[in-house]
Amino acid sequence: MKVGCVKEIKNNEFRVGMTPSNVKSYVNAGHEVLIEKDAGVGSGFSTEEYEKAGAKILDTAKEVWDGCDMMIKVKEPLPEEYAYFRKDLILFTYLHLAADRPLTDAMLSSGIKSVAYETLIERNRSIPLLAPMSQIAGRLSIQEGAKYLEKPFGGSGVLLSGVPGTPKAKVVILGAGTVGTNACKIAVGMGADVTIMDINLERLAYLDDVFGARIQTLYSTDANIEEALSTADLVIGSVLIPGKAAPKLIKREYLKLMKPGSLIVDVAVDQGGCCETTKVTYHDNPTFEVDGVVHYCVGNMPGAVPRTSTIALTNATLKYGLMIASKGLEEACRGYDVLYSGVNTYEGALTCENVALSYNMDYTDPKSLF
Ligand SMILES: NC(=O)c1ccc[n+]([C@@H]2O[C@H](COP(=O)([O-])OP(=O)(O)OC[C@H]3O[C@@H](n4cnc5c(N)ncnc54)[C@H](O)[C@@H]3O)[C@@H](O)[C@H]2O)c1
Repeated sequence: MKVGCVKEIKNNEFRVGMTPSNVKSYVNAGHEVLIEKDAGVGSGFSTEEYEKAGAKILDTAKEVWDGCDMMIKVKEPLPEEYAYFRKDLILFTYLHLAADRPLTDAMLSSGIKSVAYETLIERNRSIPLLAPMSQIAGRLSIQEGAKYLEKPFGGSGVLLSGVPGTPKAKVVILGAGTVGTNACKIAVGMGADVTIMDINLERLAYLDDVFGARIQTLYSTDANIEEALSTADLVIGSVLIPGKAAPKLIKREYLKLMKPGSLIVDVAVDQGGCCETTKVTYHDNPTFEVDGVVHYCVGNMPGAVPRTSTIALTNATLKYGLMIASKGLEEACRGYDVLYSGVNTYEGALTCENVALSYNMDYTDPKSLF
């Protein structure tokens, strides 16, 4: 198969769909790889590295789109890329179609076959192509939290670990899933006083086993949240109810109970946020203040560390990409039926149930098509 990868054109997107190391894996498996010139520079991968790994370098995105059988990207295509869609092309990328009707319509009318990273669900119910970004956001949340607690950045001026003779900063983590667990790991590593809450007692038991006496686990209730916030220096919002808006666990009136200069990093902002006062911010101006409490609500936190994000994402996508490249989409799905969950559009049919529901459109089970 001819596999292609272009430079991302979304504003401030520096990740790339394939690394030079991925190129080598595809080439060794007998595929041809087409890479747009400078596709990986934002992630620190030079065109020469891709060439050395065996890729054919092309000057324009159009040449790559037109020349490949499968396009591997990071972000959803933008309107200027819709013209490249065609019936015999496979697109493997994040799509988030439920949030983008024009893209959905363009994909359906072109007949393009698409596999979305975010809907591919493994047999153990994990979402392997989303997890690496949650791991990164969780770890970054503490790193960014530590920075924005510094006085010059608007915080209360507390050092997470403290020093001998001073109190440690109190970190409260709401949600003990992938983001919360990774935040917990870094906060414990930095020597903070960590409390983590969830409504899933199995998750709390797991963290209790792993971290022992170094953390406090608490069942997530309004009363426990209210009390923990009143002494918190840094709060991490990391809850998720799949497919729904995040529950507003931090009520506006709780802010008045919090210490001035304390900080809320609402990682769940991409699902509307778990704090009533959350609104989306961007890396160039990530914080704002409400009632003396600093809010950090960046919707694409992994974008701050594109090199790590690209390597983590492509580590996860490579296995599935190779399956599709080796057998073709249809045969690969029949051989490993987990792949069907990723198929969002196929020759004009909408094959993702949640996307169909959100637009009140007809849904076609991909298993009935191939
Ligand atoms: N801002 C970013 O850049 C970024 C990056 C990655 C992920 N995210 C978002 O972070 C959020 C968390 O992702 P995740 O991968 O950790 O999800 P996850 O499913 O692994 O974990 C979510 C946890 O929230 C818990 N939860 C649900 N309701 C709760 C409640 N009322 N109180 C306490 N806990 C509750 C669940 O039991 C679960 O353990 C998602 O909204 C995800 O989209 C944001």
